[in-house]
Amino acid sequence: MKKYIIAIDGPAGSGKSTIAKFLANELGFLYIDSGAMYRAVTLYMLERRLLKLVDKKLKKHLQKIKIGFDNKLVYLGNEDVTDKIRSSQVNKYVSEVSARKVVRKEMVKRQKEFGKHESIVMDGRDIGTQVFPHANLKIYLTASVEERARRRKKDMKKLGEDDSLSELIRQIYARDAYDSTRKISPLAKAQDAIVLDSTELSIRDVLKKIGLFVPYIKR
Ligand code: DC
Repeated sequence: MKKYIIAIDGPAGSGKSTIAKFLANELGFLYIDSGAMYRAVTLYMLERRLLKLVDKKLKKHLQKIKIGFDNKLVYLGNEDVTDKIRSSQVNKYVSEVSARKVVRKEMVKRQKEFGKHESIVMDGRDIGTQVFPHANLKIYLTASVEERARRRKKDMKKLGEDDSLSELIRQIYARDAYDSTRKISPLAKAQDAIVLDSTELSIRDVLKKIGLFVPYIKR
């Protein structure tokens, strides 16, 4: 059976993962949150105090880190780290960790592997540009910084953390700047991606718009 790949990229809080999950569910595809993989690596490094580790040694750790997905849950080894990878500690260091060449190399290799076995929807920053440049459909989802901060605040509240909106806006500006100017695989829109701004759109509206393109995905 032919396998399809849908790549959804965009900045933090643009609604990528929500949309990707719905879409995967609707199409019966596997959903992979590539950001969760970088978050799981960050958590692993934080817990073992490896942030300053040189590449050569870090590479050895990376090769043995087990990151798994099961439905909506994310696992590091046998531990369910779904909530832990969203903590403010991980938020603080994940950009720095995900910008390291040695980390990206290992994660991109694993991401490509997922696409070999079944049809998937994967979201991230470089999925349409680096991981699956030949994806059947590419979406680039954005939203205003203020709206993204409001969404992040809601998510953080569920985890019992309550950062102020202005602090979240500051963090999002900083993260956007870092993610889109880093040397390796910066956040970027693929030339052939469909751009959607979700600031004023509900989840349903975004899905409707994407749905318009699904019948026309490159086959
Ligand atoms: O989507 P997110 O906020 O959970 O992503 C967490 C971090 O990982 C963010 O700083 C960007 C980075 N990331 C990346 O560099 N490449 C990806 N494909 C996905 C996420």
